[in-house]
Amino acid sequence: ESKSAVNGNSVKEYIISDKDPVGFDLLPDQLVNKCVERGFPLNILCLGETGIGKSTLMDTLFRKNFDTKPAAHNDNEVTLKEHRHDMQEKQVRLKLTIIDTVNFSDQIDKSESYKPIVKYIEDQFESYLQEELKVRRALHAYHDTRVHVCLYFIPPTGLTLKELDIATMKALEKRVNIIPIIAKADSITKPELLQFKTNIIQKLKEHKVHIYQCPTDDPIVAKANQKFNEDMPFAVVGSTEEIKQGGKTIRARQYPWGIVQVENEQHCDFVKLREMFIRTNMEDLRETTHSVHYELYRKTKLSEMGLVDDDKKSLQEAYQEKKREHKQNMERAEENVRENFIRRVKVKESELKEKEKELHDRYEELKKQHSEEKRKLEEDRDRLKAEMEDFNKRKTLGSSKRKK
Ligand code: GTP
Repeated sequence: ESKSAVNGNSVKEYIISDKDPVGFDLLPDQLVNKCVERGFPLNILCLGETGIGKSTLMDTLFRKNFDTKPAAHNDNEVTLKEHRHDMQEKQVRLKLTIIDTVNFSDQIDKSESYKPIVKYIEDQFESYLQEELKVRRALHAYHDTRVHVCLYFIPPTGLTLKELDIATMKALEKRVNIIPIIAKADSITKPELLQFKTNIIQKLKEHKVHIYQCPTDDPIVAKANQKFNEDMPFAVVGSTEEIKQGGKTIRARQYPWGIVQVENEQHCDFVKLREMFIRTNMEDLRETTHSVHYELYRKTKLSEMGLVDDDKKSLQEAYQEKKREHKQNMERAEENVRENFIRRVKVKESELKEKEKELHDRYEELKKQHSEEKRKLEEDRDRLKAEMEDFNKRKTLGSSKRKK
């Protein structure tokens, strides 16, 4: 038994003997089992122009022929296509999603090319946020589709980054971990490649483009990660072709002048990319996606919604409160609309009644006029009739007098 202090309070410390265990030493195993059982999502965005070698590199990286059907390139819009693959290595299950950009850089006006990509990334953040804001959250069962990494394929021109590359990376740098790679590195010579890398690094610095930096705070991986950071962008070669060499099957590209071995560090940086991305920093990429990129999206979105994520109130409480407030406002607005409507109906109703009364009065007036005229006509008729009778009488009397 020993003593220590936490926040000024003294804390007694106990060591449980191995002979009589309580069992909480199994907690890490329970956590690992739970994670392994669920599997790990990894979402990779492959961003690069048509035919740059995106699908081939994914096949090479995961040593599988995913058999990705070439996308139709007849549309003039940049679209994103997801391919889901469930993979297992020993006990670990990887729920891999490869997101392919179709038609990137194919447009005549390329200034808007990055917009659908930004939208896609934000849509995934939005889905996660909506799940997080639910009262009954099921994040453990939720399939996380947030993009963990964007592999940015740079064509091996030997020149430098284009305006489009810079504009796209600037639009993405705060939303996703960008790992730039020089694709089809076997297409240029070693000296050209070295110069190309220098030009790219210079351009990235000039435009202050933030690309993914491997963490150097963990002493176990600090040295390796520092070297990875210095060596980026990696120049890679992909291949779906396997050849036998020294009894081993290796991935390579065969040319009349020789063989380019994908996993030979003298030939390209593929191994470095795999080491850096898959074997050393995959968890950091997932973690950074959550704690940096998603966090920024969430903060911005919540403050746009008028929500502040503070310690006193949980996010759910704040959201529910805001939702209640919004509902009350809506109800109030609805009530106003209803009252307005009733008032307007009443006004219209009294106007109509007024009109009806006017019409009725007019009708009565006309009716009166009509009966007056009728009465006068009848009087005239009676008078004429009497005059006629009198005239006839006198006529008969006159003619009888004449006969006599
Ligand atoms: P889209 O999906 O149509 O945009 O193509 P993509 O970017 O997925 O390219 P894909 O992997 O289909 O490769 C296009 C062509 O480039 C194929 O003929 C590949 O064999 C070839 N290719 C892929 N990687 C390399 C490479 O590293 N070097 C060379 N020289 N060719 C490559």
